[in-house]
Amino acid sequence: MGINIAIDGPAGAGKSTIAKLVAREKGYIYVDTGAMYRGLAIHFLDQGIQAGETDKIIEACKDAQVTIRYEEGVQQVYLNGQNITSRLRDEEVGNMASKSSPVPEVRAKLLELQQGLAREQDVIMDGRDIGTCVLPDADVKVYLTASVETRAKRRYDELVEKGIACDLEEIKRDIAERDERDMTRKTAPLKQAEDAVLIDSSDMTVDEVVAAITALCGGH
Ligand code: DC
Repeated sequence: MGINIAIDGPAGAGKSTIAKLVAREKGYIYVDTGAMYRGLAIHFLDQGIQAGETDKIIEACKDAQVTIRYEEGVQQVYLNGQNITSRLRDEEVGNMASKSSPVPEVRAKLLELQQGLAREQDVIMDGRDIGTCVLPDADVKVYLTASVETRAKRRYDELVEKGIACDLEEIKRDIAERDERDMTRKTAPLKQAEDAVLIDSSDMTVDEVVAAITALCGGH
């Protein structure tokens, strides 16, 4: 069993940015579980399935194979043998991932893959249910959050920098909706594990958050 670090939190809290930096500092592999849900979401979208069509989602799970490879240390997601990493961040894909992830069959499909990765190597894994369900015995658990306003502004700045037209209020609404869905679903909802350390990054720099988590990892 490797070292297991779990980071959970809502959309836009900076989990992946922070986890990647901690991974580099500590020599862990960074596992982005949201990317796996997004990979399955692409499979559903490509089949023309709508978010509410649970039966079709369950059926489509049967012939979806999501695999993860690390190429030059960067996680690549393959769907039935095809590298779909460049499509993962599409807004439509994120929304479909959030809407299809409550389906227990979707979660069961990815749980084994996630636990297998953590068994074999030292990982820092981020998601919504890592500390509560996927790695309940993780060495360190962090619940990383920030206010809706801060998360929306970060997302807005990211899109503006990429030259993508967007509306701050719409992003805020979208984030609040996604929080509500992720936190209130029946299966593996987003919540802070009892033994997780809460970090609110609203008024912290990236370096400060990385330092705080690296310190928690201590000798691990
Ligand atoms: O972290 P992200 O935005 O890439 O995740 C996309 C969606 O996937 C998120 O809204 C909920 C779902 N997800 C999940 O249910 N459990 C995880 N461990 C990770 C993501």
